[in-house]
Amino acid sequence: MSNLALNMQLKSKLPGVSTTIFTVMSQLAAQYKAINLSQGFPDYECSPQLVELVSKYMRSGYNQYAPMAGILSLRERLSEKQEKLHQAKYAPDTEITITAGGTQAIFTSIACLIRPDDEVIIFEPAYDSYSPAVTLFGGLVKPVELSAPDYKIDWLQVAKLINDKTRMIILNSPNNPTGRTLAEEDMLELIRLTRDTSILILSDEVYEHLVYDGIKHLSVSHYPELWERSFITASFGKLLHTTGWKVGYCLAPEWLMKEFRKVHQFEVFSVNSAVQYAISDFLQDERNYLEISDFFQTKKDFFLNLMLETRFDMLPCQGSYFQSVQYSRISDEDDTALAMRLVKEFGVACIPVSAFYSKGTDHQVLRFCFAKKQETLEKAVTYLAKV
Ligand SMILES: Cc1ncc(COP(=O)(O)O)c(C=O)c1O
Repeated sequence: MSNLALNMQLKSKLPGVSTTIFTVMSQLAAQYKAINLSQGFPDYECSPQLVELVSKYMRSGYNQYAPMAGILSLRERLSEKQEKLHQAKYAPDTEITITAGGTQAIFTSIACLIRPDDEVIIFEPAYDSYSPAVTLFGGLVKPVELSAPDYKIDWLQVAKLINDKTRMIILNSPNNPTGRTLAEEDMLELIRLTRDTSILILSDEVYEHLVYDGIKHLSVSHYPELWERSFITASFGKLLHTTGWKVGYCLAPEWLMKEFRKVHQFEVFSVNSAVQYAISDFLQDERNYLEISDFFQTKKDFFLNLMLETRFDMLPCQGSYFQSVQYSRISDEDDTALAMRLVKEFGVACIPVSAFYSKGTDHQVLRFCFAKKQETLEKAVTYLAKV
């Protein structure tokens, strides 16, 4: 350690945070030349039309700053889409902002609201960016563990946690890592618990279009009592198979979006302009987002049928691009130990679900990403069948 580092005795703002399990598993996958079903990203190309559109806009000189809130035509497209799919109105001028991915939308929503000692309820297993963002702004994370293996919300437990300091509830449906979606009863409970309170909602809906077996995604924006107190965060990375472009958006009523933009303008100011123009054109054809769930349904069914030949037991997956499995027929070791062994000895990387809990709760569940080519999935399952 350098002298400066020693002298300063720097007090980390995030002492509990180290390299994420996603990075660790992807690095191990590369080191052991394993098939990487750990991190959530496709290993196939996005639409060539989309690449062509981005190139066209770059060649045509759309290479300078976009407006702070995002280009208007893309915001208009999102406004139409949200109204058509969820009967929710968002004004393109004042209630929609294009962000550098879903993660920035989440971070900014938290940054603009959370003050020291505010309490934020999250449901675990949870996507890993929520807690550090809350902690950075002095907020206190109040986790509610979902009951494994059906991963339903125990609303009585939520009710018990709510008090005057509760500032926000963070939801994620369809859920990463469990693949669960929220049902109408959940929305009604949420309405009941937040009515006449100043609790705000952050609804992470990045997997909105990845829902299966006839399930309909329920957006908080559909319910007026939730609409008025919610930020919705979304990601074009998930929608368009372009996770590396890091473009997403946030929807919120004007009074919340005003605060969101105050932070956004100093955090990123504006997002890749050529990509925004291209996405705006691409989404003009609604098949480009409506057909996504059929595309992933085929992948999910393909992977699931192959996995039935293994000794892993499949958990229900209603949405997202993750399949969770239990392994009681294989081993009683903890999930991280088995995940490490799978990558090193069997050549397949996955994520141990205990990594999504603040206390490392281990229900002996592993998460596999099926947003991969058929041949990748086939090869991976050939290896997993040997376990
Ligand atoms: C639940 C959830 N929210 C947000 C994100 C972030 O999306 P983006 O890559 O657009 O930042 C992810 C990405 O894995 C996710 O799984």
